[in-house]
Amino acid sequence: MAEAGAAVTLRRDGELLLASIAHPPVNALSHAVRAGLMAALDAARADPAIRALILSGAGKNFSAGADVREFGQPFKAPELGEVVERTEAFGKPVIAALHGNALGGGLELALACHFRIALAGTRLALPEVRLGIIPGAGGTQRLPRLIGAAAALGVIAEARELSAAEALKLGLVDECVPDDLEGAAMRFARRLFAEGRPIRRTGQISPGPVDEALFAEAQRGVSRRQRGFKAPPEAIRAVRLAHELPLKEGLARELEICMALLNGEQSRAQRHAFAAEREIARIPGLPPDTQLRPLARAAVIGCGVMGRGIAMALAGAGIAVSLTGRSLAAAREVHAAIGKSYESAVTRGALTAAQGAERLGLIVAAEEDRAAGDADLVIEAISEDPEAKQALFARLGARCRPGAILASNTSFLDLRALAAASGRPADVAGLHFFNPAHLMRLVEVVRTTDTAPEVVASLLGLARRMGKIPVLVGAKEGFVANRMLARRSREALFLIEEGALPEEVDRALVNFGFPIGPFAVQDLGGLDVVLATRRARFGTLTERERQADLLEQLVAAGRLGQKSAAGWYRYDAERRAQPDPEVAALIARHAARRGIVRRAITESEITERCLYAMINEGARLLEEGIVPRAQEIDVIWLHGFGFPAYRGGPMFHADLTGLRQVLDGLTKYRGSVGDEYFSPAPLIERLAQAGHGFYGP
Ligand code: COA
Repeated sequence: MAEAGAAVTLRRDGELLLASIAHPPVNALSHAVRAGLMAALDAARADPAIRALILSGAGKNFSAGADVREFGQPFKAPELGEVVERTEAFGKPVIAALHGNALGGGLELALACHFRIALAGTRLALPEVRLGIIPGAGGTQRLPRLIGAAAALGVIAEARELSAAEALKLGLVDECVPDDLEGAAMRFARRLFAEGRPIRRTGQISPGPVDEALFAEAQRGVSRRQRGFKAPPEAIRAVRLAHELPLKEGLARELEICMALLNGEQSRAQRHAFAAEREIARIPGLPPDTQLRPLARAAVIGCGVMGRGIAMALAGAGIAVSLTGRSLAAAREVHAAIGKSYESAVTRGALTAAQGAERLGLIVAAEEDRAAGDADLVIEAISEDPEAKQALFARLGARCRPGAILASNTSFLDLRALAAASGRPADVAGLHFFNPAHLMRLVEVVRTTDTAPEVVASLLGLARRMGKIPVLVGAKEGFVANRMLARRSREALFLIEEGALPEEVDRALVNFGFPIGPFAVQDLGGLDVVLATRRARFGTLTERERQADLLEQLVAAGRLGQKSAAGWYRYDAERRAQPDPEVAALIARHAARRGIVRRAITESEITERCLYAMINEGARLLEEGIVPRAQEIDVIWLHGFGFPAYRGGPMFHADLTGLRQVLDGLTKYRGSVGDEYFSPAPLIERLAQAGHGFYGP
């Protein structure tokens, strides 16, 4: 059978034409695929003996949707909308056979087919809002016609993914089969002929009137869950148009909205984030075929909050874990607590009972010596005490079998000292998880200059097995996340000394798009915990930072944060934060003692100082080679600290702002706050002078 271009292959079976999208890696609907689909329609039309066309995907997916690499350039004809329109209007039945992922434009194409069959396990979604856009090839107009606005709004405005079984229940697919997708699609087609069933065009279904209450609820949902993002409310508007306008007009308006968003800053930033996450998986100097070490058994040393979360993350990836604590009894207690937390996950429906039991079964409480001796990987998660950690690494170096990896979860201590203490530095690396470790996706994988490449590759692979986003960073104090965070925390503290209140600083950063402000987050974690970290790092602080001892004062007054109903804020019985005049008074007394004359500080100064301090530190991290690219920094902030995705990460945001403006800001604050805090990184000076950004001209 003739080929319709390499990207779509054609095969004939009697009166059926089978067209398969064959465009690795994910069957994105690039120009070649669109042209191939048109050619498939031509071929089906030209041959009177062909009675139906079956569209499927080769490889692991039906299709991942529009080719994101084509965004930002003019689309070459035929555009996806044209292919989709022609598919729906086609005079012979077109059946979509879905498997793997049917996403975005891939699902829009399927919606325009006359019938849909899915293999069990297929994921169906319109994830466009994650890229800052809305579906632009009929998704917002056809999906509500097919499954109703209530279900369609979740899928389109919140990128809710549907399983094949849910899609069947909603009437999005006509049949769901456990295997032999192609055979089932062919049998389905032949049944159509036998029954004389007419073609059903989704676009011709009457969508019914607007349900005002439903749309109002959807708006409230996105403004709460996707605050600051422009695409979700636009997606709701587009779905509403499906109920208000004839199909053709609705399609035109949908495309208009989609294109306006595509050309906006938010979509650029969100597409940058998508690409950056994938880019950082390619590590300069680490070939993809680097030998991996086997990692079947792990030991987690230390069963505090982090150790416990790490054990759960490992068990979630099917890895057997020995969990140790100060004593076997302590480890057993934590093991029981983990059991309770799995029970509640089962009650919530987050895990099946079998999954909960399997994960708990993978974790055992053990003694250090035994656990370390058996393990392929040891993860140390004891408290941040350099001497205790070095002693532990010395014991592990002697006790662990050759080839075992020794990892530390330290967030700022010197990994090189731990590596040296172990006596086997090639086996030592950092695995810096974020709290709660079983839920947060970011993991900093930290290498020293001695860490063996296969240790790095194995830990990156392990993190991915755990469903995490690993970012490889160099071993220097604070790595990337905490080093930049420390700069932001410093400015937050200075700002309240100089005149702002904690709630004003928090509000500025929440308005910028962070989910929570720096002071509220400290209250959440516990001010005693934050103070312990401050004390551990005291030696690295400047004189002014040392004297800014507001945390010490709050803790001394018994204000430990949410847990004591008072910290930077005071809390009511429902743990709602209220600004506290006592804190304002304490800050005023502190400033007076230190001879600081408090002044009114604008929201823009707060935002700029917090952000520019971070960006400047990010530039230094690049200069020092702690990370090879700005992408690593952006991914860390997007996934570690809730940097708003629609701003793309601090370095991308700096580019959007313009490095010239960032440089001017740094220079201004160097004058007012001091050289040691705001001297511009030479990299920023160089790039700004050349009119470049971190990501190029
Ligand atoms: N267009 C172009 N390339 C795409 C793509 C798309 N829509 N979706 C994925 N790719 C590329 C990735 O960039 C990656 O390329 P790389 O290997 O050069 O880095 C490759 O396909 C594999 O993707 P990856 O995400 O690493 O693989 P996965 O198996 O973990 O996930 C998907 C596969 C399809 C689930 C995931 O890639 C995805 O969600 N894609 C986005 C889908 C989307 O948003 N579609 C709507 C577009 S409007």
